[in-house]
Amino acid sequence: MKVHVFKDSQAVAKAAAMIFAAQMSEKPDSVLGLATGATPVETYKEIISLYNDGQIDFAKAHSYNLDEYIGLEPDHPQSYRYFMQEQLFNHINIDPQNTHVPSGIARDLAAVCAAYDAAIKSDGGIDLQLLGIGKNAHIGFNEPSDHFSKGTLVADLTESTINANAKFFDSADEMPRQAVSMGIASIMKSRKILLIALGEDKAKAISDMVNGPITPQVPASILQLHDNVIVLLDKAAASLL
Ligand code: PGA
Repeated sequence: MKVHVFKDSQAVAKAAAMIFAAQMSEKPDSVLGLATGATPVETYKEIISLYNDGQIDFAKAHSYNLDEYIGLEPDHPQSYRYFMQEQLFNHINIDPQNTHVPSGIARDLAAVCAAYDAAIKSDGGIDLQLLGIGKNAHIGFNEPSDHFSKGTLVADLTESTINANAKFFDSADEMPRQAVSMGIASIMKSRKILLIALGEDKAKAISDMVNGPITPQVPASILQLHDNVIVLLDKAAASLL
């Protein structure tokens, strides 16, 4: 795991965007694993800025998002499909047909999960996976547990995650309690992983991920076993390292 600490979130975002630019230039038909939440917002702004400067081209890219809330329509303002359209896809030249966010509204969610893994595989697997991290060290919506999950799954959200994300909904009751999420094994199959964390809220999770034992109680700790992980942190997120 290569850990880099930057002076602030903007410096982190610029560095992350450059990693995307390098990836797209090296492999124009890259399969990108994308993340939602507060953390990647600035990174997506920097990516859009590089795109507007002609420094990055997504014409041949494919993307797969980590997760989606169960029960939210794609046009719900808190759905992750909506987030991706607003924060990134509407501003770059990725082919909409090549962007994938799991469906949280299909009747047969088990089939959605199996089809998601199969689609990633048939596109050649994820080349670069962007991750945030939860305060409880979740990645995707793989919450602390007694085992590491395998493929894409229907995940139950924990109180910590519900408390962290309920602020985005009109009331906490509206916040979904489940999500479709790529599993830990799906994430670990990515060729390269870029994890970003900002703010002191994430410092404990980062310290446990980098220096703690590998345990499903700290889902991100599994990344110690991946041979191509880059971690970009602001000073606050790195404060317990
Ligand atoms: P955040 O979420 O970026 O909104 O803090 C990160 C995560 O839960 O993975």
